[in-house]
Amino acid sequence: MRRKLAAGNWKMHGTGADLAEVAALIAALPAQGAGPEVLICPPATLIHRMAQAAGGRIAIGGQDCHAEPAGAHTGDISAAMLAEAGASHVILGHSERRADHGESDAQIAAKARAAVAAGLVPVICLGETAAERDAGETLAVIDRQARGAIPDGLPAGRLVVAYEPVWAIGSGRTPTPDQIAEVHAHLRAHLAGRLGPGAQAVRLLYGGSVKPGNAAAIFALREVDGALVGGASLKAAEFGAIIAAL
Ligand code: G3P
Repeated sequence: MRRKLAAGNWKMHGTGADLAEVAALIAALPAQGAGPEVLICPPATLIHRMAQAAGGRIAIGGQDCHAEPAGAHTGDISAAMLAEAGASHVILGHSERRADHGESDAQIAAKARAAVAAGLVPVICLGETAAERDAGETLAVIDRQARGAIPDGLPAGRLVVAYEPVWAIGSGRTPTPDQIAEVHAHLRAHLAGRLGPGAQAVRLLYGGSVKPGNAAAIFALREVDGALVGGASLKAAEFGAIIAAL
């Protein structure tokens, strides 16, 4: 049985003052161990403080890491550094990193290997653009990205894959339930082809304009194990309502 996961991606939002939202969120969560696993991935500057404030009630993650353990890479952070700061997870290959920093599937796979070596759970993102969907290429894009960005040999129970259609991120538009279900079933089959029965342990998240109003319908889909939430994860009330729907 896969444990549900509600993950918040704060992107480049949040300063110390926003830790109050985390405290409010934790105060409203069900008792420890009950309900879904909750993860927040704040900017790197907040990881340590948020982990201290969370006291283990929720997991904290990074939004990226370097593939190497150390070196002359100004501005970058290694997976071990994230772990030392208090992170247990790291988002990798988000479409904003692919677009802003030109990240390739091969680089994302290398980061995922580094993350696992440092004891982190990688949350590997993939998803098609609007043009790719319109051209009928969605499943081919998912296959290509999954094959390139998800390395072989990762422990399935500690792997999370997030389907985030680029056109749904921050747009208020979401795919239909059938479209989400089609991609998630395809992803599960892709993983089964590579991992065998172990693929059942991989958690598959949906991300892109998840809000309190649409969360329940998305979470009702069979292969959806949770969500990767952007804007609606910034406020305790909104994220709390999404968590409650899971
Ligand atoms: O990683 C989550 C994200 O890209 C979705 O953002 O604001 O559409 O929920 P948002």
